[in-house]
Amino acid sequence: MGLFTTLSEPFERLLAALPLWQVLLLGGTAFLTLAVAINIVQQLFFYDRNAPPMVFHTVPIVGSAVSYGMDPFKFFFANHEKYGDVFSFMLLGRTVTVCLGTKGNEFILNGKLKDVNAEEIYTPLTTPVFGSDVVYDCPNHKLMEQKKFVKHGLTTEAFRSYVSLISGEVLDFVAHNKNFAGNAGTVDITKAMSELTIYTASRSLQGREVREKFNSTFADLYHDLDMGFSPINFMLSWAPLPHNRARDHAQRTMANLYMDIIKERRSTNGGQRVSGEEDMLWNLMSCSYKDGTKVPDKEAAHMMIALLMAGQHSSSSTSAWILLRLATRPDIQDELLAEQKQILGENLPPLTYENLSKLTLNAKVVKETLRLHAPIHSIMRKVQNPLTIIAETPNSNTKEYLIPTTHTLMSAPGFTSRQATYFPNPSLWEPHRWDEGHNLAYTQMGQEKEEMEDYGYGMISKGASSPYLPFGAGRHRCIGEQFAYVQLGTVLAMLMRYVRLENLEGKTGVVDTDYSSLFSRPMAPAKVKFVRRSDGAELPNGFTKA
Ligand code: HEM
Ligand SMILES: *[C@@H]1O[C@H](CO)[C@@H](O)[C@H](O)[C@H]1NC(C)=O
Ligand SMILES: *[C@@H]1O[C@H](CO)[C@@H](O)[C@H](O)[C@H]1NC(C)=O
Repeated sequence: MGLFTTLSEPFERLLAALPLWQVLLLGGTAFLTLAVAINIVQQLFFYDRNAPPMVFHTVPIVGSAVSYGMDPFKFFFANHEKYGDVFSFMLLGRTVTVCLGTKGNEFILNGKLKDVNAEEIYTPLTTPVFGSDVVYDCPNHKLMEQKKFVKHGLTTEAFRSYVSLISGEVLDFVAHNKNFAGNAGTVDITKAMSELTIYTASRSLQGREVREKFNSTFADLYHDLDMGFSPINFMLSWAPLPHNRARDHAQRTMANLYMDIIKERRSTNGGQRVSGEEDMLWNLMSCSYKDGTKVPDKEAAHMMIALLMAGQHSSSSTSAWILLRLATRPDIQDELLAEQKQILGENLPPLTYENLSKLTLNAKVVKETLRLHAPIHSIMRKVQNPLTIIAETPNSNTKEYLIPTTHTLMSAPGFTSRQATYFPNPSLWEPHRWDEGHNLAYTQMGQEKEEMEDYGYGMISKGASSPYLPFGAGRHRCIGEQFAYVQLGTVLAMLMRYVRLENLEGKTGVVDTDYSSLFSRPMAPAKVKFVRRSDGAELPNGFTKA
């Protein structure tokens, strides 16, 4: 009889007396405690001294997922203070290396194709939603060509027609939509803007047939497809769960609808483009890859779905934030209306693309909102080759780190756009800080060296040295920026003609940000008061309020 049996005997008796579930619970607890202990010991004593510092965490695998997920910027600022521009954290089993600051933006967004990769990270989430052979389900050079097709389709001619189509949808919305019923009331801005964004994007970029279908079949399909972007799909996009089955069904149905529209167009009027229809589908129907192959209908359909999804979340979240911010600043709303009256005339004629470009405060409101509320808070890349980065530490020294291929890179340009070094009093939303000579202006703006580069979709500014990059930079830079400005600018200018927004009684400021999804947005419900303006414009004939 050794010591061990003496000790283990009462333990065995205890186990025998317990029901099975308690044994399992006990075992599970012991296992977790051990895992936590190993995890802590490993972080304290056995870390890689060449790798970036690791944010301390107790629970293995989960790591810092909760604090990062609740408020990424709070997380970034706290760790920036401790570790400097570059540090790593555990995110659901992945070691993520964050590279902050303008140098960090440059390092990731302008990383070489052989060193950093986007498609491997994004494809599990995006391919089931968009469909095969487009965006991240194809080699990068093919994506570059697809981006070129889209960019070439966004002509001045197209934007001219979009401003009038979008204006029409806004008029219809303020006249007839239930969100703006009556002469005054409360409106859930996030909900209302998500509906209005779908109508405006589908009427313009997506085309007449798609817009008509959004009054019926498309809305439900869109909803099912959108569920494919729910956060649990970061891990479970392949799982045969009900929401994923609905997603797959919606993807097939929607792709077929687009292909039917293409066939219908080809068989009508000899396949001639209907004059005045400047939508993206007409454009894609006539595009060919460099090797001469025409864009297959299926790929055109899948690209249209990708554009719908990319545009919807970013624009609806941004327009909601614009209106929520404006509700706290009635003075800016009055200025916006005054700007239109002064530049376009007291009678406020129908808005045109040329007119829109002259409304500078209108554009600054969009710009300032994207500084604080850019919908994409984290951009990720997979490391393909071991990389070295020279990082600034908290005491302004520099240190070289080695980033192994097991890490995922994370860029957050929203960090620099919140830094006081660049934007004095950074948390203050102030569109006038973009005025020349304003005391809150970022004085270096536009003075960074403008390196140009063509990644395959036309010359663009590499631009990653700017602290303001809501549309990203480099080969994966957004191609929707101009469209977004036209859409957001038109919606804003038109709404300002008809309604005035105010915070609800007793509320100040804006709601918190909901970071739980792929795209951040205002925390629901985000309600404000609207009052119809008596000093704005009259609803034109055909839009009179019921
Ligand atoms: C306020 C509106 C928008 C914002 C803030 C925004 C932001 C961004 C950002 C940050 C990226 C870079 C992602 C990365 O590097 O991983 C991006 C890429 C992209 N966006 Fe946008 N976007 C907006 C609207 C749109 C719209 C309206 C469209 C479509 C018409 C669009 C289509 C795309 C596409 C196709 C890419 C390229 C993806 C790639 O090359 O990997 N975006 N966008
Ligand atoms: C969609 O329905 C609304 C409300 O019934 C109507 O005002 C609008 O004209 C319709 N739009 C299209 C494109 O069919
Ligand atoms: C507004 O647009 C219309 C039509 O393009 C044009 O005639 C008018 O001169 C524009 N006004 C301004 C101030 O740009």
